[in-house]
Amino acid sequence: MKKVPTIFDTDPGIDDAFALSFLNKSEIFDVKMLSSVAGNVKLKHTTRNLRGLVFAMDWQVPIFKGLDKSILGKQILAEGFHGENGLLGYEFKDDELAKLENQSAIKAMAEVLEENDKTLIIAVGPLTNIASLILARPDLKEKIKEITIMGGAIGMGNVTATAEFNIFADPEAAAIVFDSGIKINMLGLNVTTKTSYDIDMHKDFKRSDKKINEILSSVMDIRIDQAGAEENYTTFMHDTLAVMYHTNPEIFESQMIHMDVETRGEFTRGMTVADLRTHSTAYKNINFVSDIDIDSFKKIFMDVLL
Ligand code: RIB
Ligand code: CA
Repeated sequence: MKKVPTIFDTDPGIDDAFALSFLNKSEIFDVKMLSSVAGNVKLKHTTRNLRGLVFAMDWQVPIFKGLDKSILGKQILAEGFHGENGLLGYEFKDDELAKLENQSAIKAMAEVLEENDKTLIIAVGPLTNIASLILARPDLKEKIKEITIMGGAIGMGNVTATAEFNIFADPEAAAIVFDSGIKINMLGLNVTTKTSYDIDMHKDFKRSDKKINEILSSVMDIRIDQAGAEENYTTFMHDTLAVMYHTNPEIFESQMIHMDVETRGEFTRGMTVADLRTHSTAYKNINFVSDIDIDSFKKIFMDVLL
């Protein structure tokens, strides 16, 4: 089967790290580039983590640094969960980093779109880089096959009562992407919080002899120790779903709906607002992924990563 040209934009980040390994091991993608964005932690850390993870996987793929602030220049981070450096203090040595290209991620993305017929973009951090690409090169929108994001939610948020982190960190960027007319697959909290990484899975990871799995399990050891609830520990593998949506679409359920991004509300900034009215005539711009077969998720996740 022909591999799909793919751009992967990420803010590693613990769950991003798992998603990167899943992407690396999946056969269907022709990954043209990886790009970092500020999000979970500052750009210098997300970029260093991306380089260290790619080096650990001995993955020959170009890496580009993206933007370090949101469209409006605000910085919202999630250091409380991922730690100041993004991997709970796990540090890569300078000789354990894959090469960083010296071109900007936005320019590199534009070149990938120009050089390929249709390119899939998967974004699992704030949408700053993707929105900037669309603003800088609207002529290239037609070269984007679809954009698949981890982000948003219908109902409860995680970083605020109404907003999911990736959208809240750059609502203007999300609004630009949602209104772009490009096909958007949205894997929000409604589906990602149905996944889990639990202590049994962790024990399997710790038995793996793959370098990347040693790193992932070391980071999760710190997380589990911090949580202090070892036997009952579980966390969500949000970002991996944005990749698995393409490797195993059959395990998901989705429907086309209209969604807007709130950028002004005092309590709702960053909220993804769904128009679920049956009589709504609003253009259905989002393929909202609402459900996943959990048993299939766990089997595929472990088979691919281990
Ligand atoms: O809300 C979850 C999302 O925010 C994930 O992408 C996680 O990595 C953080 O970026
Ligand atoms: Ca992320």
